[in-house]
Amino acid sequence: MELAQQTQSQPEQAGAFQGGAVVRPAKKAEMEQVRQMIQILFPRARSKILPQDRFLVAERSGVLVGFCHYRLRRRHCYIAGLGVLAQYRNRGIGSRLLAEAVYRAEKSGALETRLKVRALNTATKLYLRMGFFEKRCGDVLLLVRKREN
Ligand SMILES: CC(C)(COP(=O)(O)OP(=O)(O)OC[C@H]1O[C@@H](n2cnc3c(N)ncnc32)[C@H](O)[C@@H]1OP(=O)(O)O)[C@@H](O)C(=O)NCCC(=O)NCCS
Repeated sequence: MELAQQTQSQPEQAGAFQGGAVVRPAKKAEMEQVRQMIQILFPRARSKILPQDRFLVAERSGVLVGFCHYRLRRRHCYIAGLGVLAQYRNRGIGSRLLAEAVYRAEKSGALETRLKVRALNTATKLYLRMGFFEKRCGDVLLLVRKREN
């Protein structure tokens, strides 16, 4: 399995991406590629990976194109990272990764899912659309989503 190169920035040919990506848990053997993806997408971030952390990946034609890093603690889920390589964005992959993480977390008993995002990050729109609301404002927003039932 290869990691798509961020530098290959040509847009996909029309229709080539139809059918979208498969979203599934990352395999152990893929974790090095996931780390590379984090490095590409968040070069300045120092996000820790804890032993119990979970990762979902989006795979498109054998290529890893996105990830969601989340952490379950008792009744809470924390989204530690969400990213899709630039040339695969705006196709619903980020939303699918997040929805799958929330679904799995809630199935495992999480009553609330939280994440932090810079106020100016356009990703905020995606989160609000998916039922997150602002709990704390400032340069960095704390967004929370409550389980519905
Ligand atoms: C944030 C991020 C993960 C979103 O990933 P994505 O795959 O582009 O997300 P989606 O495609 O689900 O949604 C993005 C936009 O595409 C639109 N979209 C979704 N499916 C679409 C489709 N089939 N056709 C056209 N547009 C579509 C969505 O409506 C959304 O638009 P809007 O936010 O302007 O309303 C991605 O931009 C990213 O990795 N950014 C850099 C890292 C980052 O900032 N991560 C968040 C840190 S907390």
